[in-house]
Amino acid sequence: MTQNAKLVLEGKETDLAVTVGTEGEVGIDISALRAKTGAITLDPSFANTGACESAITYIDGERGILRYRGYDIADLAEYATFPEVCHLLIYGRLPTPPEREEFRTRLTRHSLVHEDMKKFFEGFPQTAHPMGILSAMIASLSAYYPEDDTHEEIDLNIIRLLAKAKTIAAFSYKKSIGQPFIYPQNDLTYLENFLTMMFAVPSEPYKVDEVVRSALNKLLILHADHEQNCSTTTVRVVGSGGANLFASISAGVSALWGPLHGGANQAVIEMLEVIRKDGSNYQKYVDLTKSKDSDFKLMGFGHRVYKNFDPRALILKQSADQVLSNLGVDDPLLEIAMRLEEVALADPYFVERKLYPNVDFYSGILYRAMGIPTDMFTVMFALGRLPGWIAHWLEQRNAPGARINRPRQIYTGETAREWVPLEDR
Ligand code: COA
Repeated sequence: MTQNAKLVLEGKETDLAVTVGTEGEVGIDISALRAKTGAITLDPSFANTGACESAITYIDGERGILRYRGYDIADLAEYATFPEVCHLLIYGRLPTPPEREEFRTRLTRHSLVHEDMKKFFEGFPQTAHPMGILSAMIASLSAYYPEDDTHEEIDLNIIRLLAKAKTIAAFSYKKSIGQPFIYPQNDLTYLENFLTMMFAVPSEPYKVDEVVRSALNKLLILHADHEQNCSTTTVRVVGSGGANLFASISAGVSALWGPLHGGANQAVIEMLEVIRKDGSNYQKYVDLTKSKDSDFKLMGFGHRVYKNFDPRALILKQSADQVLSNLGVDDPLLEIAMRLEEVALADPYFVERKLYPNVDFYSGILYRAMGIPTDMFTVMFALGRLPGWIAHWLEQRNAPGARINRPRQIYTGETAREWVPLEDR
């Protein structure tokens, strides 16, 4: 591979260094471009911009490959626990048995949220979207656990965040249905604690369903990281200014909320419901995406990076079928989703544009089968993505020569004009 690239601008040739990743990905290093040529690059929406070097997650969008720290997503989804994947992403390696035990204990013992923070939940209207509550509560953790710059304190705050986010998520659900909060218990695992805080009621015994626990474990692992996506980029950008962990992750939660990103899982179910109520006329909705007069999109379809298939969607499609039948749930939306996928994938519009179901297409059907309400779906995505955000926040903070993220622009507004006094306008 050539070690540099040549750029010819206005007849003048400039050499630019080339960086090659461990999987052979090629990046033209333009960090000295402006100094050398006076020009900048223009890449709105960053589709061709590598914002950093990263050792966390590898994606090959053409071949449908996704690996966390070198491990294939299918193996992790099959064999790992979500806390193991958190350890892998954040610390760079799978935990040894004693490390796994210690990590699990720490994640459990830090699950309680400060009693004063419970009052915050009272302030939100019952109709508040749980993503707004999650973002606000995570930012608020900085008031209780101010950041001190030592490695130990930062690590403790990482554990606190991982442990408390699930409590905040479950409390925001309990608040929305007007039930009392269920506190975390130290004898339960991460997922058992979360499911108990979500679904137990004080007067009745509650036992976590193994099918639900295992499906949730898989879902969280599949969402745990996805390199430089919109919310992770947000976390890195906010962190690059020196913002603390909680503030940076809270910004990531907000970025995830949108329907083109994590909010798509909620939007998919809403779309499938509309199609069901409209007599399951799949073709009508596929055609609507093509109409010039409509900006309708098939939610849960398409991806900036995956152009053949999304490996997470393949795993989820298989598991949706299995989990629903194990739980004895007969959800008409699963059938609608599968038929819609069939119709769309046979349509030249989708074929030409390489539009395939993404992770959000089947995840909502699984969450529904577990009894998780639609407006909590994106919160579930956020719980899964948390270790990825944390790993990226740490990586960017510790990167040699890290600088504040500050893109430039090509200005297209008015050129200099003279001030016009009010009476002359
Ligand atoms: N339904 C119908 N058409 C779609 C589509 C969808 N879900 N996603 C993309 N397209 C079309 C676009 O209209 C565009 O068509 P054009 O070339 O005729 O203008 C073409 O496919 C390329 O899409 P584009 O919007 O440029 O891709 P992107 O990389 O900017 O966006 C997504 C990627 C994921 C935001 C986009 O595919 C989308 O909005 N999907 C639905 C939301 C979703 O599921 N998000 C979750 C992602 S994990």
